Amino acid sequence: MSDVLGENAVNYYSKESAKLYELSGAFKRIQESMAIDALSLSDFKKNDLILDLGCGTGFSLNVLIKKGFKAVGIDVSFEMLAHAKNKGLIVACADMKNLPFKDESFDGLISISAIQWEAPENYGLMLDEIRRVIKNSAIIQFYPKEKAEFECFIKLSEKKFEIVEVFSVGEGVKEKKYVRMIKQCKGRKA
Ligand SMILES: C[S@@+](CC[C@H](N)C(=O)[O-])C[C@H]1O[C@@H](n2cnc3c(N)ncnc32)[C@H](O)[C@@H]1O
Repeated sequence: MSDVLGENAVNYYSKESAKLYELSGAFKRIQESMAIDALSLSDFKKNDLILDLGCGTGFSLNVLIKKGFKAVGIDVSFEMLAHAKNKGLIVACADMKNLPFKDESFDGLISISAIQWEAPENYGLMLDEIRRVIKNSAIIQFYPKEKAEFECFIKLSEKKFEIVEVFSVGEGVKEKKYVRMIKQCKGRKA
């Protein structure tokens, strides 16, 4: 885990900061709205089983459930996961670079505002894990520190996935980028 925000995620999300995050109406609104955008850009089908990578307290994961998907979340922070568990969500404590799931356990995957915690040198490992555990596609939003970091992520994704597409939603400071990666386009709507 990187120190993108000055500390690693496990240290950063203490009991207190996890509680502040969970109680913040702004975080809830933003995470939910990005999860909705991600789903609208995805090719997920009804009843697909989706993994939420870095699910935090479950704002994005809850959107998946409300939209009718079967969904599971993972996060490295026990403190964040405690809130997700209280909501009755299915979650596990795990690192996105070493997922405790068999190959192709999930139809698809989303990740909202989580992977910037990882240092760019770990993107390869993380993308290999994403590719391994999904059958079809993933859609990822994150906050790269700089343009070069985003480009590095895209270049690596293009090596590992058959199709990689970048979507922009919103403008100016509100612009969010979503990366859709498809493992194999055969039989799926691109
Ligand atoms: C902004 S928060 C949660 C975002 C989540 N989408 C939500 O709706 O609340 C980002 C999360 O990524 C998690 N995270 C950071 N590095 C991780 C890693 N290596 N593996 C799994 N989760 C990680 C953090 O613990 C944190 O809970």
